[in-house]
Amino acid sequence: MLDRDIENVMISENEIAEIVKKLGKDISEEYNDKFPIILGLLKGCVPFMADLLKQLDIHLEIAFMNVSSYHGGMESTGEVKIDMDLGAPVKDRHVLIAEDIVDSGRTIQSVVELLKYRGAKTVKVVTLMDKPDGRVIDFVPEYIGKTIPKAFVVGYGLDYQEKYRNLPYVGTLKPKIYMTEE
Ligand code: IMP
Repeated sequence: MLDRDIENVMISENEIAEIVKKLGKDISEEYNDKFPIILGLLKGCVPFMADLLKQLDIHLEIAFMNVSSYHGGMESTGEVKIDMDLGAPVKDRHVLIAEDIVDSGRTIQSVVELLKYRGAKTVKVVTLMDKPDGRVIDFVPEYIGKTIPKAFVVGYGLDYQEKYRNLPYVGTLKPKIYMTEE
């Protein structure tokens, strides 16, 4: 049913599986003896985080945060509204943040700064998708699944008006969806 709203598949289920496997291998090597906290940013991280965790052959702890950025107006770094904070203390821990997509970079940059301020030993970022054309600040994630063009995508955690997060792949929406729902 959801398929009929999709214009183009940008990352297929098979491609996602390959990407996540590769990321899991690289991350397992780097964090082998570090007992990292894998921190998912809700809600978009859910499918990606669930699949990535299964590819990590290391001891780790999981945690979640729900944040929203003060976009526009307040551009100072560290300005992030915490809707749900992570339970675990991060002081002296290695933290790897799992994101669905990095666009302007503001959200992730704010969370990185917050965790460093709280005393994390290292803070790195793994993102399934990177949209470097959307960047308004200088931010480069350490692990990138796939670099995509500046298009609005849904699926595999990403939403349009809270819908389509449960699509098993990533794609663009047909323009009529925006027109009928606005
Ligand atoms: P940033 O602070 O601009 O990097 O925003 C990143 C957040 O914006 C992501 O975690 C998503 O929630 C949302 N986002 C950015 N691009 C898209 C998109 O193409 N589709 C759906 N959500 C997006």
